[in-house]
Amino acid sequence: MEIALLKEEEFHQFRSWLHRTAGINLSPAKKPLVSGRLSKRLKHYKLSSYGEYFRLITHASQTEELQVALDLLTTNETYFFREPKHFDFLNSEVLPHAKPGLPFRLWSAASSSGEEPYTLAMTLADSLGSTPWEIIASDISMRVLEKARTGHYSMDRTEGIPKHLLSKYCLKGTGAQEGTFLIERTLRSRVQFMQINLNNALPRMGEFDVIFLRNVMIYFDMDTKREVVARMLPHLKSGGYFFVSHSESLNGINDSLKLVKPSIYRKP
Ligand SMILES: C[S@@+](CC[C@H](N)C(=O)[O-])C[C@H]1O[C@@H](n2cnc3c(N)ncnc32)[C@H](O)[C@@H]1O
Repeated sequence: MEIALLKEEEFHQFRSWLHRTAGINLSPAKKPLVSGRLSKRLKHYKLSSYGEYFRLITHASQTEELQVALDLLTTNETYFFREPKHFDFLNSEVLPHAKPGLPFRLWSAASSSGEEPYTLAMTLADSLGSTPWEIIASDISMRVLEKARTGHYSMDRTEGIPKHLLSKYCLKGTGAQEGTFLIERTLRSRVQFMQINLNNALPRMGEFDVIFLRNVMIYFDMDTKREVVARMLPHLKSGGYFFVSHSESLNGINDSLKLVKPSIYRKP
């Protein structure tokens, strides 16, 4: 079967659908990415054009394939202890003031395959002693959420995890599991993964002491960034912290938070 070419108007259909659905803004330079990532689905369904695939996913009965397309078009790059200064800041400035008795609540929005929320879980478990805590981790992609729930990673992902946390919270696989590690069970049980599309109304989740929204706003246009942050802020406690990535900022997006350090904000 001949390989289909992604026509300009077909690319436009996928672009506006992805923007409408997830708020993700694909530049014209992303055309090869769209055709590359979706080509295996055309093959799977023996379709001869991207237009046919677009009609298939947008057909009301095809919600499963719609999710597959969404999963393929999101970029999920992440790693343990990414931007380590954020975890140092939590350790030195935030966690020592956690109120004993009250559960410390943290939301990792756009958590991808779990490296960020498990990094946070290791940090909290190691620092908070008997103070209870919980983490909600969410993403739009079901594929990465499934991976995240397993807590099972290849050994080459351990880079960046401090040695004492590695030996405390990561179980090294043996036999058939050689070359992999598993996040320790009690740690895993305290991270709740759920599918949340930040571009839609949010579910009831209560308020958080800390929200991480890192490396996802880069995919949104300015209006979407404003809407997403405005939707999230009611879920941050007064005095709570909001983290974005070092390459992002809330400049021109929201001015209700106080900048504490580059990429770290606090709700008055
Ligand atoms: C590059 S990863 C960032 C992961 C992690 N926060 C980090 O900094 O390493 C971006 C994630 O955002 C998710 N995402 C994109 N659009 C989203 C949306 N509208 N709602 C929720 N998650 C979204 C993607 O599925 C992807 O897993």
